[in-house]
Amino acid sequence: MLEHLGSFKRTHYCGEISEKDLGKDVKVAGWVDTTRDHGGVVFIDLRDRTGKVQVVFSPEISKELVEKAKKLRHEYVVAVEGEVRRRPEGTENPKLKTGNYEIYAKKLQILNRSLPLPFPIEDNVKVSEEVRLKYRFLDLRRPKMAENLLFRHRLYRVVREVFNEEGFVEVETPYLTKSTPEGARDFLVPSRIYPGKFYALPQSPQLFKQILMVAGIDRYYQIARCFRDEDLRADRQPEFTQIDFEMSFVAERDVMAVAEKFIRRAYKELLGIEIGEIPVMTYDEAMSRFGTDRPDTRFGLELKEITDIAKQCNFKVFRSVAEKGGIVKALNFKGGAKLSRKEIDELTKFVGVYGAKGLAWIKVLPDGLQSPIVKFFTEGEMNEILKRLEAEVGDILFFVADKPEVVNAALANLRLKLGKMANLIDESKVNILWVVDFPMFEWNEEEERWEALHHPFTSPKEEDIEKLLENPGAVRARAYDMVLNGVEIGGGSIRIHREDVQEKVFKVIGLSEEEAKERFGFLLEALKYGAPPHGGMAFGLDRLCAIMRGEESIRDVIAFPKTQRGQCLLTGAPDTVREEQLDELHIEVKTKEEGD
Ligand code: AMO
Ligand code: AMP
Repeated sequence: MLEHLGSFKRTHYCGEISEKDLGKDVKVAGWVDTTRDHGGVVFIDLRDRTGKVQVVFSPEISKELVEKAKKLRHEYVVAVEGEVRRRPEGTENPKLKTGNYEIYAKKLQILNRSLPLPFPIEDNVKVSEEVRLKYRFLDLRRPKMAENLLFRHRLYRVVREVFNEEGFVEVETPYLTKSTPEGARDFLVPSRIYPGKFYALPQSPQLFKQILMVAGIDRYYQIARCFRDEDLRADRQPEFTQIDFEMSFVAERDVMAVAEKFIRRAYKELLGIEIGEIPVMTYDEAMSRFGTDRPDTRFGLELKEITDIAKQCNFKVFRSVAEKGGIVKALNFKGGAKLSRKEIDELTKFVGVYGAKGLAWIKVLPDGLQSPIVKFFTEGEMNEILKRLEAEVGDILFFVADKPEVVNAALANLRLKLGKMANLIDESKVNILWVVDFPMFEWNEEEERWEALHHPFTSPKEEDIEKLLENPGAVRARAYDMVLNGVEIGGGSIRIHREDVQEKVFKVIGLSEEEAKERFGFLLEALKYGAPPHGGMAFGLDRLCAIMRGEESIRDVIAFPKTQRGQCLLTGAPDTVREEQLDELHIEVKTKEEGD
């Protein structure tokens, strides 16, 4: 028989029973984590969101109570009243915060039962993520997951504290809106009232926050949900959360200072870690040394360019790439000469994923160089390569020759892989840096046109404005990204507030006046009515939270995430809807055959 809560009123959370409660009667409630029957004395661990406490049912106090306690099973919901006692010497549990105490039960109410569990409620369970997501209510009872949610809650609090202190105003912006310019695919919501018309869910509050600046709000922030229909990965969800902010009458340094204040406070308050000076690296330097605009600088293995040597050498692959405007870069995997042929083949396959057509290598052995390519180089060329890569006996050098994008992507990822393989990454390090001076545009090879690297409202550098039309590739943006341990955790820019500059940027990316008006007309209109100079940034809150908690995937810091395939396994979304709903929305679903 289940009981009612009745007049029971909880006095303590389980995880909070402490020295000062000794000898007191307390009332706790929660879930039965474990039960043990020790010769007539029943012990249970009772758990709530704060942790666990041991409850003892002893025949000393009541035989009836012991009989009742014997009926308890995993995850039954109970309320207990009893006296806090010190555990007998030798029976303490140092793993538990409350491990020195136990509650001697005087009353037990069984409030609810539970079906047998699909997986035990404990950390490090061996169960697939699918099952965890389907039974998310159980998954979130696991101590680590519960702590992730509480941590995230504390992070929100730090956000609000810092931005409130700095005079930011929290404003909500719409979810049902028009397409925004972050460059991913939109999620669309059909309008019932306007047949054939759609709202787009915002990819970010970008346009609204700029309009708030025109409106004179001066400093805006929001913990904002963003929606992007893109290919998902461990650090990407179709809906995710940004700490979004925007400021008027500012330059880069002002926005970066607020971001730094926030990140420092978050680390200090939540993890007790002091973040030192945050270095600034240009995009060019990041690409040159690490092959990526989000370098993980916790370890070395930096890339070195040898295009100049390649140009004159006799290795055809390298020379022809260099002559055709490609580049050749290399890295020195210290101590890697012991890699086997098979391991090198695997690494070659690995860089192939990023488009590299091969992975040339040189082993530096005690009795000389071993490599399929040394024979193509003169002694002078080879000495220069070894010098540049600071090669020593025991090292292996890896080379990729291709277009810069391919070389950088292949070697940046190889660098990370080797770094992990050789345990070069100190996981306790918190490495934050700014990447600045991004190019304004990147060339889209497929569509043969320039694209804005950030979004088209990002301001070019003042001194580059004149190059906008003649040489778009050379224009740098007033944009900045914050990188934490090799993850882009935030980015932003100073925006364009001048109509003439905005028009030129649209022209470069091939957006006609009509198209621009059609897509962003409302912002362009607003910019004509006294737009102040402004700029801002957005942090990816899920990514920041995951890194701070040491989680590999942002799914572990989101209460109800989607799978890699965009499904919510708890609710079954996305799902079919009733015929009448489609009718109301003026929508007819094409079957696959018809659509293809
Ligand atoms: P951006 O597109 O760089 O900038 O996004 C800002 C930050 O949001 C995080 N992020 C994501 N996190 C999880 N899942 C995703 N799919 C995802 N996409 C992005 C990243 C990223 O650094 N409006 C601009 C900001 C500005 O210019 O002020 C914007 O949205 O951590
Ligand atoms: P090959 O002459 O094709 O047998 O290649 C000799 C070595 O060069 C092999 O180790 C290949 O993996 C490597 N290689 C081939 N193409 C490239 C490339 N584009 N960049 C780097 N290494 C390459």
